[in-house]
Amino acid sequence: MKALICEAFGPIDTLAIKELPSPAPGPRQLLVEVRAAAVNFSDALVVQGLYQVKPRLPFTPGAEISGIVESVGAEVADFRPGDRIIAVVGQGGFAQQCIADAARAMPLPAGMDFESGAALVLAYCTSLHGLKDRGHLKAGETLVVLGAAGGVGISAIEIGKAMGARVIAAASSDDKLALCRKVGADETLNYSTENLKDRINELTAGKGADVVYDAVGGPHTEPALRALAWRGRLLVVGFAAGGIPKIPLNLTLLKERSIVGVYWGEAMKHDPAGHLGNLQQLHQWFAAGTIRPVVSERFPLAAARDAVASIANRQVKGKIVVLPND
Ligand SMILES: NC(=O)c1ccc[n+]([C@@H]2O[C@H](COP(=O)([O-])OP(=O)(O)OC[C@H]3O[C@@H](n4cnc5c(N)ncnc54)[C@H](OP(=O)(O)O)[C@@H]3O)[C@@H](O)[C@H]2O)c1
Repeated sequence: MKALICEAFGPIDTLAIKELPSPAPGPRQLLVEVRAAAVNFSDALVVQGLYQVKPRLPFTPGAEISGIVESVGAEVADFRPGDRIIAVVGQGGFAQQCIADAARAMPLPAGMDFESGAALVLAYCTSLHGLKDRGHLKAGETLVVLGAAGGVGISAIEIGKAMGARVIAAASSDDKLALCRKVGADETLNYSTENLKDRINELTAGKGADVVYDAVGGPHTEPALRALAWRGRLLVVGFAAGGIPKIPLNLTLLKERSIVGVYWGEAMKHDPAGHLGNLQQLHQWFAAGTIRPVVSERFPLAAARDAVASIANRQVKGKIVVLPND
């Protein structure tokens, strides 16, 4: 089988497609024919050695997949060959076949296509966990989403709307903001051309936002924090802009604002029942048409390296997927 291989941490253009033997599942694992693998910002960081988790080399990137079970380990009771599944695999997804832990796999819900299945879990679970469990977003509150046209950004807009919030989408181009409106944003803000703090204040009649969902960091975090209302919450989700902001703490005291970390991958280990409840909620919203991953581009396995490069280069709208067996 063919797979994208990272042999040394470094530039994305050193990733290469190689022929490898089919992997064998362990006792509690599944061997999966990968139908779709979503590309996440963390894939670009991990191959460059810039992510908090550093896999043992060589490895295949690709953290979440959908596909068809080919074989199962001796202790697996819940899955059989032929089952259509979604799995968070951490790595190994950009390949024709991959290994998934049975405990981190779930049936592909009826009515969900492989691309949506692959693109759903990481982004949407992060946003639901962030907005509900960490941000305590309430109906009628104002939510500002930074990097709103990206993978987690689009999911935060849709979930924010589903929770009854008024959503202000902030992104770097009018083109990206048009997509944000299409998926439900009430207002938009172009932070390349507009002053972030002033525009949020203008759109909230001077009150400020109740929750900011920040997957970008860099120069945007401090002005967004300054534009939070009394007891507003800043959700620290990621640092796609590269810089990790250093914040004057008096900004929290003045309006009893909170700065709240969001780390879905760890949170689901600490609260598996809460994670399961969130997944069920997402499946219900998907079935009702309330949420729908926006898959803007599809790449064959031969071009998986280009897919990773395009997310690193800020070119992606919504989600992109690799289709290794097409
Ligand atoms: N905490 C968690 O549990 C968790 C879970 C998933 C993801 N994340 C993090 O969330 C962030 C977003 O992930 P994603 O998969 O949604 O990525 P994405 O689709 O690439 O979206 C990131 C957005 O950040 C903005 N951005 C600003 N400066 C950028 C730069 N220099 N390079 C690239 N993008 C830049 C871009 O929007 P504009 O061009 O409009 O500015 C882009 O749309 C990442 O840092 C990721 O690691 C965290």
